[in-house]
Amino acid sequence: MRRSGYRQPLKQQLGGVKAMFTRLSIAVIVLVICMFMLMSAMLSSNSNSSSVEIDVEKLWGTAASGGWRPSSAPRSDWPPPPTESNGYLRVRCNGGLNQQRSAICNAVLAARIMNATLVLPELDANSFWHDDSGFQGIYDVEHFIKTLMYDVRIVESIPEIRINGKVKKIKAKQIRPPRDAPISWYTTEALKTMKEHGAIYLTPFSHRLAEEIDNPEYQRLRCRVNYHALQFKPHIVELSKSIVSKLRSQGHFMTIHLRFEMDMLAFAGCFDIFSPEEQKILKKYRQENFAQKRLVYDERRAIGKCPLTPEEVGLILRAMGFDNSTRIYLAAGELFGGERFMKPFRSTFPRLENHSTVDTTGELGKNTMGLLGSAVDYMVCLLSDIFMPTYDGPSNFANNLLGHRLYYGFRTTIRPDRKALAPIFINREKGRADGFEEAVRRAMLKTNFGGPHKRISPESFYTNSWPECFCKKSAVNPADKCPPDNVSESLDGQLENEGISDLRKTDQI
Ligand SMILES: *[C@@H]1O[C@H](CO)[C@@H](O)[C@H](O)[C@H]1NC(C)=O
Ligand SMILES: *[C@@H]1O[C@H](CO)[C@@H](O)[C@H](O)[C@H]1NC(C)=O
Ligand SMILES: *[C@@H]1O[C@H](CO)[C@@H](O)[C@H](O)[C@H]1NC(C)=O
Ligand SMILES: *[C@@H]1O[C@H](CO)[C@@H](O)[C@H](O)[C@H]1NC(C)=O
Repeated sequence: MRRSGYRQPLKQQLGGVKAMFTRLSIAVIVLVICMFMLMSAMLSSNSNSSSVEIDVEKLWGTAASGGWRPSSAPRSDWPPPPTESNGYLRVRCNGGLNQQRSAICNAVLAARIMNATLVLPELDANSFWHDDSGFQGIYDVEHFIKTLMYDVRIVESIPEIRINGKVKKIKAKQIRPPRDAPISWYTTEALKTMKEHGAIYLTPFSHRLAEEIDNPEYQRLRCRVNYHALQFKPHIVELSKSIVSKLRSQGHFMTIHLRFEMDMLAFAGCFDIFSPEEQKILKKYRQENFAQKRLVYDERRAIGKCPLTPEEVGLILRAMGFDNSTRIYLAAGELFGGERFMKPFRSTFPRLENHSTVDTTGELGKNTMGLLGSAVDYMVCLLSDIFMPTYDGPSNFANNLLGHRLYYGFRTTIRPDRKALAPIFINREKGRADGFEEAVRRAMLKTNFGGPHKRISPESFYTNSWPECFCKKSAVNPADKCPPDNVSESLDGQLENEGISDLRKTDQI
């Protein structure tokens, strides 16, 4: 009894110690949990994701410039094209409007590098759109030649020459340039042939000059072509501006390049969401136009390789905080699958327009699919308050617009990161819709909304010409410093010294 009496207190004592330990460890655990929660709250507020709100009002304005402004005038010695030309350069640009656009920039740069005379670039009429308007039908030729007079000599066609009283035409030697050819290919192989024949003809000509060139003056020349010299003809500009002012009369508006078209869907190889009939069409198109590849829908989707469906686009915008009063102009060709895919989007955002619904002049009527329709869509997307491409892979339209809007003053772009969004959409489809909108906002906040940002491969120079084509008034790095405002005067002075004084003053570049 005594022992037990003795034991009892010991047991009690031990029990007491045990209980104390238990209480202590619970307290410690609670403390650790509290600290953990506090720290994670602090961490997440540091990375700005505890406040997963997106300021939509701010998005309607332009992105922060950080003091940068567009500038593509030369910043170092830039002599005028030499009077003695090495020969004529003819190119034939294939692809749609925007593939041709970057090809034209490359052609001007190639002519500059070779000291050649550029023949007005030919635009392939046999391409996808079956359009034969040509350069003259789409772009302002006089403006093009005038704007580039400090850079290259441009003629509309190879002139005839007189030899012993006979009129002869120089026959351009046809060459097929390597893809993304380096500058050295132009100064050796191409130049040699040009000197031999007097003229060369490069065809096909798209992606035939490397995009990354370690010479900012050359890159700035590309920007002068793309953003200053290439101007649509006045009637296209007028038509686009009238569409824009109609849209803007009711406040700001957004453009979406809804790339949900047959060619893109066939290319991406995301077939499962379509009916058997539709799948047959896509698979046939794929077989005829693209290399064979193993395509598993779930795998493609999970890594963000599938174009966003119209419904997904609507879900993203709604999660970001855009409401049903948002005015949206759709730039796109024929939507594949038709109204079935459009319906969920239309019910979220009923104020939808496209160039046929806004253009009351009927001018576009017959030509909505050709270069004219494409050019009008391009202009409307360029001038809109917000632009959202839904597929920025091999879409030259979206890529060139992203670059152009950056140059046009950091105009807001919404670029969904399909890879980051894919698991969020997949979760939602599996019934886990909780926190969907917040997760979308979180993913979107990690993207760039159109401010200056570093170009990271595979982003193209035509999508992002920062920093080469931008400058700062007071820059830390001298290479970023804005050139003096009178730069065109000094270029004029150089041209006069060369004895070419009959050229008119160009617009400010
Ligand atoms: C082009 O002309 C410049 C002089 O204006 C010269 O320095 C350069 O070497 C020439 N390049 C070629 C490829 O002829
Ligand atoms: C937008 O949604 C509200 C309800 O949230 C509704 O009352 C209104 O009619 C809708 N507007 C349009 C243009 O559909
Ligand atoms: C434009 O929208 C109208 C009405 O929504 C539609 O019928 C038409 O097919 C669209 N046109 C184009 C080119 O997308
Ligand atoms: C341009 O302006 C700078 C000063 O800002 C001056 O030094 C230079 O001489 C001017 N050049 C011409 C061609 O007027």
